[in-house]
This record gives sequence, C-alpha cells and structure tokens, in this order.
Amino acid sequence: MRRGLLLFVLVNLLILSLLIRSVSTLLSLLVEDAAADAIHHAELPSPNSSLIEMRPQIIPKIIHQTYKNETIPEVWQEAQQSCIDLHPDYEYILWTNEKSRDFIAAEYPWFLDTFDGYKYPIQRADSIRYFVLAHYGGTYIDLDDGCNRRLDPLLAYPAWVRRTVPTGISNDAMGSVPQHPFFLRAIEMLQQYDRSWLLPYITVMYSTGPLFLSVIWKEYMQDKPSEMNRVRILMQDEYNKYSWSFFTHHTGNSWHGKDARLIFWMGQHWVFLTFLGFIIAGTVGICLWWTYGRVMLLGAQYRYRYIKVPSIISPSRLSSSPTRRARRMMPTLLRRVSFKEDEELGGATETSYELGRRDD
Ligand SMILES: *[C@@H]1O[C@H](CO)[C@@H](O)[C@H](O)[C@H]1NC(C)=O
Ligand SMILES: *[C@@H]1O[C@H](CO)[C@@H](O)[C@H](O)[C@H]1NC(C)=O
Repeated sequence: MRRGLLLFVLVNLLILSLLIRSVSTLLSLLVEDAAADAIHHAELPSPNSSLIEMRPQIIPKIIHQTYKNETIPEVWQEAQQSCIDLHPDYEYILWTNEKSRDFIAAEYPWFLDTFDGYKYPIQRADSIRYFVLAHYGGTYIDLDDGCNRRLDPLLAYPAWVRRTVPTGISNDAMGSVPQHPFFLRAIEMLQQYDRSWLLPYITVMYSTGPLFLSVIWKEYMQDKPSEMNRVRILMQDEYNKYSWSFFTHHTGNSWHGKDARLIFWMGQHWVFLTFLGFIIAGTVGICLWWTYGRVMLLGAQYRYRYIKVPSIISPSRLSSSPTRRARRMMPTLLRRVSFKEDEELGGATETSYELGRRDD
C-alpha cells in the first residue's frame, strides 16, 4: 500500500512545484526590495549642488511623454509645463497615437500587428515608451507627473526606473541610454506577454504595464548585469514628497475601474491571501486524496465482482490478484471500509485474506 501513497504524494508535489515554478518570479517580486540597485541618498547631489556639473551625463537630454493627441487636458497642462520650463535645453517629444504608430511602422515593423491589436489604448501608451527609450534614449515621464527639479543628476546612470510600494517597479518615470539591454529585452518580450487575463486591469498590468516591466526586471537582474547594463532604482523619497525629490504627482489614472480597487486591496492584504491560498491548496489536496481513495475502492469492488473470489486451490494467484493490489494501494482509512463491504458480500473474503497473508 505504501507504494500508492508515495505515488500520490509525488504526483501532488510535482503539480505543486510546477505551479510554484510558473509563478516563482511573481512570488520573488513580493520579497524583492531592490536594495542592491537603489540610488542612495548620499550619491545624489541636492538640487543646486555644484556636484551635478561634475557627474557624467550619458542619458540624452530628451523628455518623452504620451497622449492620444496634441490637446493635453487642462488637469495635466501644469505638470507638463513644469517639466518643459525646468528643461529648456532638453528636446521634448509628445508621442501621440498617430506619431507612435508611424514610429513603430517605420522602425519596428515586426511589432506593428501586436501594437495595432492591443485591446486597450493604454497598452499602446505603455509599450511605446519602452520602444522610444530603447531607440532614442532619454527620460520618459507620465503626463500626471510634474517636475520638481532638473533631471540632470539622473542622466548619470545608464538606466533607471522607479520603485513602487509594496512591490516591483513602475513605468511612469524612467530613463535610459539608447539601446540599453534592459529596454531591448522589454520590447523583445512584449509579444510573449500579450495575453488576456479576464480582468482588464490585470491584462493591462501584466501585458504592458508595471507588472510586466517588474517581471522583466526581476528576470533581467538574475543574469547579474555588468555596471553599464545595470538598472538603477529611484526610491520613493527621491520620486516625490520632498523638496529634493525629482517629481510631483498629480491626480490621474482615470482609467482605473473596480478591478483596480480589487487589485490594490489584494496588494494590501497579500499575507492574508497567501495564507488563504495555502488553506485552499490544502483543501483541494484532501479532496483529491479522498477522490483517489474512492476511485481505488470502486475499482477494487468492480474487479472483485468479475474476478470471483479465488478458491483455495490457487492461493498464489490470489495474492497477486488485482483486488489485492488495489487494496494495498488504497489509503489505510478506506481499506477498512472496503473490508466491511467485502464482509457483507460473504465470509469467503475473510478466508481468502488469511490465505493471502500466509502466502505473502
Ligand atoms: C535652486 O536654485 C533656484 C534658482 O536657480 C531657486 O529657485 C531654488 O530655490 C534653489 N533651491 C534651493 C534648494 O536652494
Ligand atoms: C483630441 O481629443 C479630444 C478628445 O477626444 C478632442 O476633443 C480634441 O479635439 C482632439 N484634438 C485634436 C487636435 O484632434
């Protein structure tokens, strides 16, 4: 019987490990604090520091933003203007729908079908930013992010993205040199991640949005990139909130619906949800175990009926009969039940059991 139990446990372990493997990057994101690549307080010069001039500026002085057309809504005009005003010497490019599509068609024609096929416009707005950073380099800023100080100190890193709480990175402010391997990988992976996940919010997040970029980032880090290929992380304090922070956040995210609130709730309660997940997994395991027992039991009864209880003449055949084997593989608890039913069928079973044992 131990063989059956072992098999059952092994199959379950296999399924569990396959499940864990397929979500391992997501799980590891939960505990990733990005400390290894964080841009530290101490290395960033304060807004008017003379140190800024002494740092290299390898990211091109270009600011990229996206909107569907040239008419920026009033709520975001102030934020947009704050960035333009602070950087008169930077090139400014607004990527409208039309301009984005023309750019993809001309420079990345292999991606055009995917780009056109995206169900939600925000997916195009997400993906175009990775392409323009990989192509031209520069700094991408969401329209609802205003600038609080000049971006020059951030031009010193080959690539940087912004940390988000509680997990992962965001794609609302990021910078890169042209052809940085991280953004090249991001644009390479977009087609693979172009899948639908039932809820629009998850679909957007995981196909082109912050969750997509976080997973790509996490996998990218596993290859231990060299100094030039590293992606540095702008932490929360440097993002907004303080006078020395780089950005100011204006309200936005108008496309977030009910499912967004659900996801945020899940993000805040992930410990509880993980616990719940284990309980559900345990319950499913027990149900499987029970079903397995029932199936073995039915199989045993079925065979028992058609094989006929062997006679005393051939005890050796009896000991290796399918009924015996099935019974051996049956969970201990259920074996007792099966014997009880056997007894109801007649006393012969008891005798054959004795014979079988002696034969073993
Ligand atoms: C930095 O300089 C600008 C003008 O060049 C000034 O408006 C601002 O207050 C200064 N910031 C700090 C923190 O001194
Ligand atoms: C941009 O889109 C808005 C809203 O859809 C529309 O009102 C406006 O006229 C458009 N602007 C241009 C320049 O087409």
